[in-house]
Amino acid sequence: MVTLSHASHAPTPGQMFGSPETLRRIEDVNAARGDHDLTLRIAELRAWIEADLADVERDLAALDRAPTPMHASARHLLSLGGKRLRPMCVALAARAGNGFNAAARDLAVAAELVHSATLLHDDVVDMGDLRRGAPTSRVVYGNAASIFAGDWLLVEAIARIRAAGMNDLLDRALGVLRAMLGAEALQLAARGTYAPDVEAYFRVVEGKTASLFEWAMYAGGRAGGLATAQCEALEAYGKNLGVAFQVMDDVLDVAGDAAVVGKSVFADLREGKLTYPLLLAVERDPAFGEALRGQCLGESAAVDPELVRRAAEVLRATGAIEDSVALARKLSQESVRQLGALPPSRARDSLESVAVAMLHRKK
Ligand code: IPE
Ligand code: IPE
Ligand code: MG
Ligand code: MG
Repeated sequence: MVTLSHASHAPTPGQMFGSPETLRRIEDVNAARGDHDLTLRIAELRAWIEADLADVERDLAALDRAPTPMHASARHLLSLGGKRLRPMCVALAARAGNGFNAAARDLAVAAELVHSATLLHDDVVDMGDLRRGAPTSRVVYGNAASIFAGDWLLVEAIARIRAAGMNDLLDRALGVLRAMLGAEALQLAARGTYAPDVEAYFRVVEGKTASLFEWAMYAGGRAGGLATAQCEALEAYGKNLGVAFQVMDDVLDVAGDAAVVGKSVFADLREGKLTYPLLLAVERDPAFGEALRGQCLGESAAVDPELVRRAAEVLRATGAIEDSVALARKLSQESVRQLGALPPSRARDSLESVAVAMLHRKK
């Protein structure tokens, strides 16, 4: 099986992906040989940017370690690793230009800090109990500490973007934070209601998840000295990759293995969050939609095991999982198409591999 490895573990071939000609690779997403090739390619790319990611880890580890619950809450999340995908995006985009310089490092750290802040807040809002295979910061240190920890990491992120010395990137980052909050506001407003709406789903996903990938790609390209048109192509890559990433996250929520994902599954169902797989399922099985309406409108923080069992069955029977992955595949292809704006390079090949890997991820 193919997964994106967590940064805290050395990549082993079995954990990742790899393969030769990209668009065919995307089509052959289930081909065993493709899996093997992709595994090797990702192991290679991680080795290539290992020093960049080690720099990022050093900076993250150097954050204030004051003995307060707020600092401990942030430290808890950061020290559990994670895939470090957003810093990887910055590093590869910078390497598509003239390399991973000091500014790119600051921006990569900032991308992970923003991501970490959103996770700390997200687990409070979603009442998440498990992340990266461990109890969430809010479970260990409490909701209040996690909210302050998230705010603190956002401040640290902005400080690093400012230190990188490119004002346009700071402006764009503020736009990203605004977009993320706007999306969270929409998602929160939909709580306690039942209004299946695919367009609203994509609006939320573009804001809460894709906007940071867009920024990471643009910022890396900019730090690497690429022309504006190339930075914009990288940004478009990030947008498609980001949406594909969230669609796959939503697939993993309903069809993943909790032990591998490192998060509780069916959390979105519990929250009454109408993700893409669930939207397809209710469209194709209106009776299931009625059952889901009860969960969405209800106050319960728990989900009836019978509803979970039924959801698993309906998602399978209606082809909702399969078609969600098919949508992610289209988005992945679109992201790869954007790379055509860049000259051939090892970085461009690596970004292609990342887009393919997205479809295979198991965590
Ligand atoms: C989880 O992101 C939140 C989403 C946007 C779906 P990741 O899956 O990148 O989380 P970590 O950093 O690897 O834990
Ligand atoms: C992504 O949504 C959250 C952010 C972008 C912060 P989810 O709620 O699906 O994220 P997970 O599954 O808890 O990581
Ligand atoms: Mg969540
Ligand atoms: Mg999720």
